[in-house]
Amino acid sequence: MAKTVIVTHTDQPTGRLQELAEVFAAEMCVVDTQISPLEMAREVAAFESDVAILAPDLEIDAVLELAKIMRSTCPGTECVALGRRGPSFFTKAIRSGLRDVMDHHSDDFDDMVDIIQSLHREAELRKSGPQHVVPQRANQRTIAVLGPKGGVGKSTVAVNTAVGLARRCPNDVVLVDLDTAAGEVANLLQIEPTTDVAQIASMSELDPTAVKLRLETHPSGLLVLPAPASLVAAEGIEQPSLMKLLKLLSNLFKYVVIDTGPGSTESLVTTLQTASEFLIVTTPEISGLRVLQRYMAAFNELGLEDVAQNLILNKTDDKSGVTGTQVGELLSRPVDFFIPTDRQVQLAANQGVAFIDAYRKGPVTSVLDAITRQLTGEPAPNTSKKWFR
Ligand SMILES: Nc1ncnc2c1ncn2[C@@H]1O[C@H](COP(=O)(O)OP(=O)(O)O)[C@@H](O)[C@H]1O
Ligand SMILES: [Mg+2]
Repeated sequence: MAKTVIVTHTDQPTGRLQELAEVFAAEMCVVDTQISPLEMAREVAAFESDVAILAPDLEIDAVLELAKIMRSTCPGTECVALGRRGPSFFTKAIRSGLRDVMDHHSDDFDDMVDIIQSLHREAELRKSGPQHVVPQRANQRTIAVLGPKGGVGKSTVAVNTAVGLARRCPNDVVLVDLDTAAGEVANLLQIEPTTDVAQIASMSELDPTAVKLRLETHPSGLLVLPAPASLVAAEGIEQPSLMKLLKLLSNLFKYVVIDTGPGSTESLVTTLQTASEFLIVTTPEISGLRVLQRYMAAFNELGLEDVAQNLILNKTDDKSGVTGTQVGELLSRPVDFFIPTDRQVQLAANQGVAFIDAYRKGPVTSVLDAITRQLTGEPAPNTSKKWFR
């Protein structure tokens, strides 16, 4: 039988709630009145139930927020709310991901039981399906940030576009650090890792909820999966497991951004095979550009010529003497984005702050924002200043 949990502030349910608890042999998740919806979600998730009934004694705003967090972190648990909430609550309820709102005073008790039973049937069907996978999401994008040389700005681009995406879609973007030898993402975002990609890829069963709950969080709403803690751990990553993990993340999140290391590693090949989109980063140096030429030629050999690609020329005003046009000619494709050199980029990196957060205006932020908008499909902002009175 599918599992039901009742989320409430009191361990003595009464009336209809008590009857529902009996019919479904529900467990009680008694949450403190002082805790945040995020903490509540953690407590509810621990029950691994198929249906969570949010009791009428919970605050309306907490119910909505809790349902929203549960939808993104525990898609296997469907939430229904109990209580007299009024018509305007319904619109908010639907947007937050609540599956139903039941009025425990006036609704027919058998109808309430029916609603929960149908959610149980859905859960059973999901579990008995051929594979235990979450459905592929429409418009999902897995963006690999690539470049054969170190120091060209891959991590800078990865971190800033991921934070930019997360500001638009909080809790729906994950940044994976696959620079297995020298991953910097956690430092760049001031995150003290408690887990890493090698640890999670080696989990015997990749349970979506367990994976989501282990990701690190950044104040922007970005989720982060840091690079392996050591070279030995990095060596231990098995590529089929990594592939499975990346696919799972792409099922769970609208955007998966993957930062990669220099050179050609096994993880890079796995990344290339999983990504729907490449952001290729280079600086205008002849030696690096020749390496990039060979690297991009390999895309064809791997059958990746149709994957969407954007070419980013970073540190454009380094004294290399190579122009954007020459870069385009050498690589047989035009440069899509030009990021100027700005020493504040390094300053922000040293402080563990995303550049776009530290410096909200200026040419570098504008280009990083344009890259993000290109990924979301947003139109360019209207830069001409207009004042309406
Ligand atoms: N546009 C830029 N202007 C100035 N410094 C930059 C710029 N982009 C990156 N950097 C700096 O260059 C160094 C290498 O960048 P990073 O993003 O770590 O490269 P990669 O990930 O390719 O090794 C870092 O110190 C970073 O702060
Ligand atoms: Mg890097």
